[in-house]
Amino acid sequence: VTATVPIASTRRHLLDVDALSRAEIERLLDLAVEMRAARHRGERRDLLAAETIGLAFYEVSTRTRISFELAARELGATTVDLSVAASSVAKGESLVDTLRTMERTGIGTVVLRHAASGAPYLAARTTRLRVVNAGDGSHAHPTQALTDALTLREALGSLDGRAVAIIGDVVHSRVARSNLHVLTKLGATVRVAGPPAFVAGFDGWPGVTVIRALDQALRDADAVMALRIQLERDAGSGVPSLAEYVARYGLSTERLVAAGTKPEAPILHPGPTNEGVELTAELAEGPRSLIGRQVENGVPLRMAVLAHVAGAV
Ligand code: CP
Repeated sequence: VTATVPIASTRRHLLDVDALSRAEIERLLDLAVEMRAARHRGERRDLLAAETIGLAFYEVSTRTRISFELAARELGATTVDLSVAASSVAKGESLVDTLRTMERTGIGTVVLRHAASGAPYLAARTTRLRVVNAGDGSHAHPTQALTDALTLREALGSLDGRAVAIIGDVVHSRVARSNLHVLTKLGATVRVAGPPAFVAGFDGWPGVTVIRALDQALRDADAVMALRIQLERDAGSGVPSLAEYVARYGLSTERLVAAGTKPEAPILHPGPTNEGVELTAELAEGPRSLIGRQVENGVPLRMAVLAHVAGAV
């Protein structure tokens, strides 16, 4: 792997994408492409053979946890899963105490998911661990946004001048916040649409337009991303009922056609979906869907991030 653009400003941690420049984002995406190609060729690059990576998931996860664990192993690192429910967290151990214990046992990098927005920043401030944010509250999910950007870049060629529509529960979505940063830094404009309670407060983001009418947000869009209604974050109170949400904002091929979305526009969803709510199964599993590709790209993208924060690339 050859480095062409240094990513000095973020070395040691990846807390969010807001501090990354366009060149730094593109360098991480390029690294992920190189990592993926090497993986497909069956080449192992033990860039992190001397590294122990701790997985500290205080919130449930399928995609992010599995892909970080595989990414770490692909790079030759040793992984330690905190298994929060079976740890001394259950006896009242604080987050900082747990992280300091991980540090003292020889863990170099922690991949942290936590329900509290800002938890990774606390980890970075109070320990010498390298910290990778795997999703904090409704604040940020940098590796998901980078995965989505990689997937979109490969589908569209470039994000420059492209219009991406993000539909649904933007307010509670850490993925959406990180995506707004990444997509606009890469030259896209972003339209957000959904029930008023789900899009409040996003007027005024550079490069982002809140559009009240769903059809208007979808018209001529180059790509459409549906977001999960985050029922675990009380998002259910933002809509009268799921049935009403489906009727007004659920995406289907018919709705995209009626709204005039570009026929080739890809459909994304960071997952997991509320099946049949944010989009129909036919759309999620159809030829325009990049949902599977988003998951596949998660491993090489996280390989790039782990190697980057460790200073191995
Ligand atoms: N997109 C995402 O973060 O999925 P998981 O919660 O399954 O990791």
